[in-house]
Amino acid sequence: MIRRMRGVIPESPMLNLNGTTLASNLLLSPIAGYCDLAFRLSIRPLGGLGLAYTDLVNPRGLLRQTVKSMELIETEPGDRPLAVQLYGHEPEIMADAARWCTDHLELAAIDINMGCPVDKVCKTNGGSALLRNPELAARLAERVVRAVDVPVTVKMRLGWDESSIVAPSLSAALEDVGVAAITIHGRTAAQAFRGRACQDGIARVVAAVRRIPVIGNGDVRSPADALAMMRRTGCAGVMIGRAALSDPWIFRDTHALLTTGRVPPAPTLAERLDFIRTHFEHSLRIRGERRACITFRQRVSWYLKAIGSFPAWRDRFRGLSSAAEFYALLDEFPQTVHLSRE
Ligand SMILES: Cc1cc2nc3c(=O)[nH]c(=O)nc-3n(C[C@H](O)[C@H](O)[C@H](O)COP(=O)(O)O)c2cc1C
Repeated sequence: MIRRMRGVIPESPMLNLNGTTLASNLLLSPIAGYCDLAFRLSIRPLGGLGLAYTDLVNPRGLLRQTVKSMELIETEPGDRPLAVQLYGHEPEIMADAARWCTDHLELAAIDINMGCPVDKVCKTNGGSALLRNPELAARLAERVVRAVDVPVTVKMRLGWDESSIVAPSLSAALEDVGVAAITIHGRTAAQAFRGRACQDGIARVVAAVRRIPVIGNGDVRSPADALAMMRRTGCAGVMIGRAALSDPWIFRDTHALLTTGRVPPAPTLAERLDFIRTHFEHSLRIRGERRACITFRQRVSWYLKAIGSFPAWRDRFRGLSSAAEFYALLDEFPQTVHLSRE
């Protein structure tokens, strides 16, 4: 059955980054430790996704080619289009790292993180700490723009705290130095993940720039949320993070809603179990059995939550210690259950 939304007018489904057109205006958030290569390879074939990002990468680590940095930027031909996200505060180092990435990888964009509120990142004056120094933030972005020949985008929060909302003026300054798009998470750094993302704050960023696209982010949990955010704020696209971790079809469904006014039928149980298997297989191939099992102790429980309430099964997956056990559990999983989204 096709689920219809009343009164939906198709929105523009594409996004233009300095002349590069993305097939959809829906972006997968960087979520450190979660939206890795295995997840990206699994979610892309479901459709609707316009651009995905690596987790945030330390440019100094990348220039030293540390094991961790090389893992973070690991990609494959099926993982396109892709942006590498860098965090830091040193214009030259950021520019060198960005150039290294574009020399070695096929990238749609380089993204600069100006939103991460985590101590470890802010202590290095990177992430959202840049919001406290907009002049440096603009200079750094300008240096990166000059260093590479792919679009440079910036992901930021509204400001450091309520008393210093700099996103509108900083976005205008970043547009002036050649940044191709702004993603704005509608919270301050001080808020971390508390409260609700402020849509009026996103709208103020949309109003502040002249021509570059602004991508809204924060608390989009359904296709209807994405449409509402675009309508309320005027943003050109939407970035979705946490919701995709339990509902990987959210991009397919949102794209369908934006282009046709309809949301396709919810995935069947067999499709959901297939997705879990595919994601595990990518993890197994890329990271090996031990790490795949550790990752899936948690990931399966999120996927199962979208299917229904399965506390006993979640406990069984939580003890996962081998690939053979994973496949046996998946085969044993009841093949007929009530799906919570249907
Ligand atoms: C565990 C975790 C890790 C994150 N890692 C990153 C990151 O590496 N880079 C980044 O720009 N944002 C990061 N974010 C923020 C998300 O990209 C996104 O802005 C935020 O979760 C709000 O969107 P959502 O409500 O759709 O999840 C992270 C968020 C979480 C919860």
